[in-house]
Amino acid sequence: MEPPQTPVEALTEKQARRELARLAMEISHHDALYHQQDAPEISDADYDALRQRNEAIETRFPKLVRSDSPSRRVGAPVAAGFAKVKHSRPMLSLSNVFSEEEARDFIARVRRFLGLTEDDPIEIVAEPKIDGLSASIRYEQRAFLRAATRGDGMVGEDITANLRTIAALPDNLPKGAPDLLDVRGEVFMTREDFFALNERQEERGEKIFANPRNAAAGSVRQLDPAITARRPLSFFAYSHGEISALKVNSHWEFLERLRDWGFPTNPLSRLCRNAEEVLEAHADFLSQRPSIPYDIDGVVYKVNRLDWQERLGTVSRAPRWATAHKFPAQQAETILKRITIQVGRTGALTPVAELEPLTVGGVVVARATLHNEDEIARKDIREGDTVIVQRAGDVIPQVVGVVMGKRPRGAKPYAFPAECPCELKTPTMREPGEAVRRCTGDLACPYQRVERLRHFVSRDAFDVEGLGAKHIEAFWTDGIIKRPGDIFRLKAKRAEIAGREGWGEQSAGKLVAAIDDRREIGLDRFIYALGIRQVGQATARLLARNYGSFAAFKRAMIDAADREGTAYQDLININGIGRSMAEDIVTFFSEPHNMDEVDDLEAQLAITDFAAPATAGSPVAGKTVVFTGSLERMTRNEAKARAESLGAKVAGSVSKKTDYVVVGADAGSKARKAEELGVKTLSEDEWLALVDG
Ligand code: IVH
Repeated sequence: MEPPQTPVEALTEKQARRELARLAMEISHHDALYHQQDAPEISDADYDALRQRNEAIETRFPKLVRSDSPSRRVGAPVAAGFAKVKHSRPMLSLSNVFSEEEARDFIARVRRFLGLTEDDPIEIVAEPKIDGLSASIRYEQRAFLRAATRGDGMVGEDITANLRTIAALPDNLPKGAPDLLDVRGEVFMTREDFFALNERQEERGEKIFANPRNAAAGSVRQLDPAITARRPLSFFAYSHGEISALKVNSHWEFLERLRDWGFPTNPLSRLCRNAEEVLEAHADFLSQRPSIPYDIDGVVYKVNRLDWQERLGTVSRAPRWATAHKFPAQQAETILKRITIQVGRTGALTPVAELEPLTVGGVVVARATLHNEDEIARKDIREGDTVIVQRAGDVIPQVVGVVMGKRPRGAKPYAFPAECPCELKTPTMREPGEAVRRCTGDLACPYQRVERLRHFVSRDAFDVEGLGAKHIEAFWTDGIIKRPGDIFRLKAKRAEIAGREGWGEQSAGKLVAAIDDRREIGLDRFIYALGIRQVGQATARLLARNYGSFAAFKRAMIDAADREGTAYQDLININGIGRSMAEDIVTFFSEPHNMDEVDDLEAQLAITDFAAPATAGSPVAGKTVVFTGSLERMTRNEAKARAESLGAKVAGSVSKKTDYVVVGADAGSKARKAEELGVKTLSEDEWLALVDG
């Protein structure tokens, strides 16, 4: 169980100060996990509890409010890798209420603020609160100009190329729409699309997303928009930032305008005339929740009249005219049969609860993450316990706590294994200040080796077609692949592979060809594929950009073993590389067995120098391109994303400034216009020939 918390009323000033400091740190840690790494460690409910405690303490001790207090911040600062965009009006967050009583209080507060009596009518719009990520999209002269994430509310990340791939977002707005419009709304993924995506990811041995929100966020934050284009993202518009003219009096009418201008809005939203109707909407959405095709975690209430919204204004990070009425988390009880340990690529041991299967919120659950050693100890979770399992929109459910009254006699505290569960039984170790325990076996540990191989061939790394996670495991078990370099020696084992169950001459031949296809690899992908701790895609790109060639990078990392030398200084001077990351990178290159692997790979591969995506040498850099008609070999969105990543500007209509019009089947007026203006037209094949060089 959690250590009992001192009630806020009972805190001394000194205790309060200490706790606010701890909360600021903890909340900012969870913000970074959630917003920048799309990998939260705690449930939304636990996160909300931290914020509520922080706010309660601040309310009692206003003079202790810290300058870095979470209540003054929205979300998390922007991550490296994306350009920054300053929002011309801040993107706000929402206050929360958790009960009917608090919801009524919210409406009562609004009434008091506006000086309304009990009987004055007040309209409130109730909208499902979608669990996705908010985005702001700027239209100028009624054309899609730029898109940004919320970031810290003031400055977000430029995700223009990625959001352009969302089919539901119009490229151009009809006549009558404002000249200038920052439309705001939620980017999300339906559950069905999410499950299908995860299935594809699993087949290819790639990252499995914990829930639709993380999948949507991870897709939007892809550095390569061509990947975003392949991810099924949806969008609902619900508010605006800067706007040149808005001739409506209410939010409800504004939603109608949004639809007129071509934006999708949530059809479930309701106009309510009083508190009873508001609560009815909440109850209805809650009961419809399982059949709504995307995850919602509550209902947003918004005062309908815009003049009232204006008068109500904002408090710190949230409007006073709106709030989110959260749903209770979906929980159920079951028996924890056993705790097992999973070993990740970097040796991290993750405890997993093997449960008596049950359904929570309509989904069958048989396993839940226990996060780490400390979590188990903190909640005193033991094998045989009856536990409360919670899904908060997450596919990976959490164990919230133990039902102590149902603990079987003789249940023993869980002893976290001091040895790796693999056959080598390597000792495990925990670095001071770290929550995770790791296997010390590195490349000797078979679990880590398999995980590393999986990572090595995954889509953002070598991306070997037809060599998924399952094959890697089978090949490893049978000794066909022992180390990354073995993959490039598979040619010699072609006959052996062809004879395996499920394989034949043809598929074995295809695999060998697919591997040959990957003998040439970009520096950033190669660095990422090495699987160095803390070096994800963005960091790998950063390193590639800074060092240019693998030879230069390797030399520098070897020299950086001298922590006093300039090579090490250069490394930590790179914006985006922290000390702990630098340590992991330098350590990687100082391990002789890692260097053996690297040498083995270098001998078989051509690692190409980093070419800035900035398009130098791209035949379409700086050119304006229009796509029209239906394309055969890619979707229109994919084509656009690809063109943009090559530095082209994609326009929606043909003018004298257009350089190329790519004409698909059944093209109409745009193709004619191109002809008239003498703009060069290309067939789809000609276009591909051009961009593929
Ligand atoms: S309105 C000033 N409406 O919830 C109003 N937000 O907790 C700002 N969200 O950042 C937001 N559905 O990502 C609004 N119908 C809805 C929403 C919604 C989901 C998200 C949004 C926002 C967060 C705040």
